[in-house]
Amino acid sequence: MEHRRLGASGLWISEIAYGNWLTHASQVAEDAATACVHAALDAGITTFDTADVYAQTGAEAVLGRALAGQRREGLEIFTKVYWPTGPGHNDRGLSRKHILESCEGSLRRLQTDHIDLYQAHRFDHHTPLEETLRAFDDLVRAGKVLYVGVSEWRAEEIRAALDLAAQMGLDRIVSNQPQYSMLWRVIEAEVVPECEAAGIGQVVWSPMAQGILTGKYLPGQPVPEGSRGADPTGSTFLSRWLRDDVLTRVQGLRPLADQAGLSMAQMAVAWVLGNPNVSTAIVGASRPEQLVDSVRASGVVLDADLRAAIDEVLGEAIVRDPARTESPAERP
Ligand SMILES: NC(=O)c1ccc[n+]([C@@H]2O[C@H](COP(=O)([O-])OP(=O)(O)OC[C@H]3O[C@@H](n4cnc5c(N)ncnc54)[C@H](OP(=O)(O)O)[C@@H]3O)[C@@H](O)[C@H]2O)c1
Repeated sequence: MEHRRLGASGLWISEIAYGNWLTHASQVAEDAATACVHAALDAGITTFDTADVYAQTGAEAVLGRALAGQRREGLEIFTKVYWPTGPGHNDRGLSRKHILESCEGSLRRLQTDHIDLYQAHRFDHHTPLEETLRAFDDLVRAGKVLYVGVSEWRAEEIRAALDLAAQMGLDRIVSNQPQYSMLWRVIEAEVVPECEAAGIGQVVWSPMAQGILTGKYLPGQPVPEGSRGADPTGSTFLSRWLRDDVLTRVQGLRPLADQAGLSMAQMAVAWVLGNPNVSTAIVGASRPEQLVDSVRASGVVLDADLRAAIDEVLGEAIVRDPARTESPAERP
């Protein structure tokens, strides 16, 4: 496993991270979740990503139990705040109250006294940015959070946060967590150039487009049993890709992967790691064998001819519109 710097910060992280959205405390039972965490550790993954909202706080608790007893200094634990974790007006968003309260809950569930990277899961249009940045800064000064990042923020939102932090003398954000894959490239036009210039690293999610790019979903066929596509919750997030036109194009990637001596999962992960602004690709896994497969992408470089051939095969299925990076206009 190779490691990269998280943006321009001094923190090194594994270039493939393991994330537990939709799996832990949800699609998979706890023994399978623990086996995946151990497979990740065995493969050299040191970076783990979760969020307070995953499985309504259940995913953080599963990860905390699975990592208990590991050497804390050898791990980088990332979590997030913003989406609702309770019924109240203040159980959501990026207010000072919710950030400070949610952080305490995350620390307790993750069984740790500090979070390595604490991320604003979306931009909150109903909280002054000063209030959010000051709350994050207080957590950093208290030693509860070591680094601060954001997720799915637009280029101008990231710029505003950097400018304000500089003016107010507050800790600056070091990362952004966007969706990024061969199919979903909306960060390339605006977010990546802004971040490259500012030393912000991308911590990218769904590098395999939730399993679509592994090639296991076939056009005109029922979704495979036991897959996210067959899970009642998971399938709602996957539906945008479960179209025959997309799935047919994805099958066209198989000969390219075969020729490169890679599995389709490895080619998908290596593709995102080919963007130098990417600090880590967060992969998901519902069973340990999937991690054994995807982590082999570490260190693999896809040459320019292969990248061009991928573009050609995926063609119109690729989404590039930078306006697709957005946070809810109203707090959820
Ligand atoms: N910031 C955000 O808003 C946000 C949003 C979403 C995700 N994330 C983060 O990104 C992480 C990864 O997201 P993701 O799970 O969608 O990523 P992904 O790596 O694109 O998809 C992972 C899923 O694909 C399938 N899979 C993985 N490896 C496979 C293999 N080798 N062969 C066949 N199938 C394989 C598994 O699903 P099945 O076995 O069930 O089919 C697995 O759960 C999350 O856990 C979370 O930490 C962040």
